[in-house]
Amino acid sequence: MIVAVDGPTASGKGTIAKALAAHYGLPHLDTGLLYRAVGRQVVLNGGDPENPADAEAGTGFPDDLLADPVLRSEASGQLASVVSVHPGVRARLLERQRAFANRPGGAVLDGRDIGTVIAPDAEVKLFVTADIAVRALRRFLEMRDRGEDVTLELIEADLRIRDERDRNRASSPLVAAEDAALLDTSELDAAESVAEAIRLVEEKRRRA
Ligand code: DC
Repeated sequence: MIVAVDGPTASGKGTIAKALAAHYGLPHLDTGLLYRAVGRQVVLNGGDPENPADAEAGTGFPDDLLADPVLRSEASGQLASVVSVHPGVRARLLERQRAFANRPGGAVLDGRDIGTVIAPDAEVKLFVTADIAVRALRRFLEMRDRGEDVTLELIEADLRIRDERDRNRASSPLVAAEDAALLDTSELDAAESVAEAIRLVEEKRRRA
């Protein structure tokens, strides 16, 4: 079974995808991390993330970069969003993601274009959303716990910029697949979000 989990930043999609993978015994790929690594590699190369050739060169990042905690910062998220606009970057990351999705036995992938581009034939597609104020507060608390010096206002402004860029880019924008089940986590905590996701997966499997 392939499970595609898409949605904007801090919607809860990562938590849900990880929990679904554990519940169904499937491997999980956080595809946002790949774009974060590209952005980081561009900086390490001294390149410009807005420049398509520099951004594409960033796709040559070494695998151990994926474990660098710096990728978890909001600055890395913004950089990822900038490099992810370039079709050349998306094309270079496509095969790696497809190969993961098509592993024997299946997989869970989370990102922005899993249900629409990477795995359009996924058996289950979830589109996870939440109000911007809720997402900003979640991200703010997460960052504060990590000791980052941030304000709620700055985080919310950052998320709006990222949402806008991810939704309006020409190449594989963030959009719910027509056959995706919508899951709004605004009023749910992590455990409730995961329970609802499992319910939606089971409902989808029953109907298949
Ligand atoms: O999910 P995340 O916050 O780690 O993603 C970081 C950025 O990477 C996001 O703002 C847009 C980009 N991204 C993408 O374009 N396609 C994906 N499948 C995953 C992430």
